[in-house]
This record gives sequence, C-alpha cells and structure tokens, in this order.
Amino acid sequence: MFKQQDEQIQQKMVSVTLDGEPRELPAGVSVAAGLFSIGEIISRISPSSGKPCSPHCLMGVCFECLMEIDGIQQQACVVEVQEGLVINRGSLGKKE
Ligand code: FES
Repeated sequence: MFKQQDEQIQQKMVSVTLDGEPRELPAGVSVAAGLFSIGEIISRISPSSGKPCSPHCLMGVCFECLMEIDGIQQQACVVEVQEGLVINRGSLGKKE
C-alpha cells in the first residue's frame, strides 16, 4: 500500500530510535509515512477506548498520529524524519 512507486529512486535511510529500539526510516518523509513504510501502522493506543489508532488524515488535522518525538507530543504526520529522532508511541513500546 505504501510501497515506493519508482524503485529506481534510492531513498536515503537514517537511524532513529523507535520505542527504545534502533530502526531505519527513510529521510525526508513524515514520521507517519516513514513508519508506514516499515510496516508500523499503529501510532498509539487510544486512552479512552483502549483500541489501537493509526494515522488517518496525514495532514495534521485528526491527531490520530500523536506520539512523543524528541520528548514532545507531536503529530507524526507533520514532523520530518531526521537522523537521531527518538520516537515513543507510549504503551505500544512497553514490553511486559
Ligand atoms: S494523521 Fe491526522 S494529524 Fe496526523
């Protein structure tokens, strides 16, 4: 679904920390799009319903992509992937 259309284009990958684990994301796309590209479609667990949420609008309107990025609660669809980002999805990242 989010496969890159032109496979001739080599996307530069950068290192980030996702829920405490080192991961590679494509540089220059939104964090939400970068997470989609590696199959991470759940952005958070709804505090009211307890159900998983995924980015929906991808343009900063719905807040379904809200997660902690570099220590600040932000919409992942409006933050660009950069080397060294620390991304935490709250309870999604906690392993029991
Ligand atoms: S996906 Fe809607 S605000 Fe980010």
